[in-house]
Amino acid sequence: MHTPDPIIAAQVKQLLGEDGYAQAFAPIDQATGLPNAAYWSKDWLALENKRIFQRSWVFVMADAELEGPGAIKPLDVGGTPIMLVRGEDGQVRAFHNVCRHRGTQLVGEACAANTITCPYHAWAYRLDGTLKSRPHFHGPNQLERFDNGEAEDLALYPIRCESWNGCHFVDLSGQAPDLTTWMAPMLKRTSAFDFSNIRWIGKRSYTIKSNWKLVLENYMEGYHVFAAHPRLIAHAPMDVRWSGEWSENVFYNDYVAPEITKGRGDALPHYPGLSNEDSRRGLWFVCLPNFAVEVFADQFVVMATHPISPDETYEELHFFVVGDDAAAGDKYARGREELISMWDDLNMEDVELLERLQRGRRSAAFDGSIMSPAWEGPAHELAQQVIRAIERE
Ligand code: FES
Ligand SMILES: [Fe+2]
Repeated sequence: MHTPDPIIAAQVKQLLGEDGYAQAFAPIDQATGLPNAAYWSKDWLALENKRIFQRSWVFVMADAELEGPGAIKPLDVGGTPIMLVRGEDGQVRAFHNVCRHRGTQLVGEACAANTITCPYHAWAYRLDGTLKSRPHFHGPNQLERFDNGEAEDLALYPIRCESWNGCHFVDLSGQAPDLTTWMAPMLKRTSAFDFSNIRWIGKRSYTIKSNWKLVLENYMEGYHVFAAHPRLIAHAPMDVRWSGEWSENVFYNDYVAPEITKGRGDALPHYPGLSNEDSRRGLWFVCLPNFAVEVFADQFVVMATHPISPDETYEELHFFVVGDDAAAGDKYARGREELISMWDDLNMEDVELLERLQRGRRSAAFDGSIMSPAWEGPAHELAQQVIRAIERE
């Protein structure tokens, strides 16, 4: 049930305009998608951050990124600095990346440390977030130490954090439904693939001068493939493709390619027990807002998007293969390299277009799309998903 918060709904209408709002819910042949303001306005992004990215599960990292106790990954989620920390006990915890004393951002870059020490007045935190010591706080040369759990109220602010098959997610609100409930519409459609076998082999990071929704719209639609991606169209021609569709908060699309090709199933072990058809299937989904995944018989590739500003998105591609041998065996080294370079090439073809799309949204002549009912139904629905998620009580 969609119950809008009346104050937020009024802000949404003000930013999009009454007409902009109304047409987003019109049938596709009359709708024009979100108006330009949704791609340029800082106020609009603030709403998206507060109402979507801070109230939902957000993919933040692969478990294997943090190699041992003390490994730390800082990241901005929903416009707020957070960090992921592997503790002495091997657990990954998420904290707000901010010192309890005066609010300094604690960790600037991925690093490894036994203690998280603030660069401003050297308050020192343990890897589990508790405060260990603070020098000079009560006067010169007084070192206050907390060795017996007596400074609980001075610990780093914790964030709800859960994992699924080597992928970690945070929920800043602490109120989102269970992680598996959020993913359920995806899990239902992908039951032929046993994702407990996936193993991380690396990542690539990109900063794209484009709005995060353009990145997702582009990810969903197969319409541009014939014009933009020569190698991908050779793998899967237009006539095996369809528009895909949303089921609740999850977008799903797929095709069955005529045959497996380089970088897509030809050189690495497959998920166990796949049918012939599933071994040629390419499928991809988006669990809103940022867990976008593409699956072929031999891989699981996450595209995680984090808005930095209305016209800039930080994106990470995480590459997983199937089984320990595929991840570490020497005989699969070439296959792993091919997989990563295939994705890097494909992604760069999109980045160029995404930056042009963003610039085009500055045009005085353009304030909405003409959408193809054959291909762009899901992009049309993304506009509605975003509005509803913002407005939801
Ligand atoms: S702000 Fe961190 S120790 Fe002062
Ligand atoms: Fe593309």
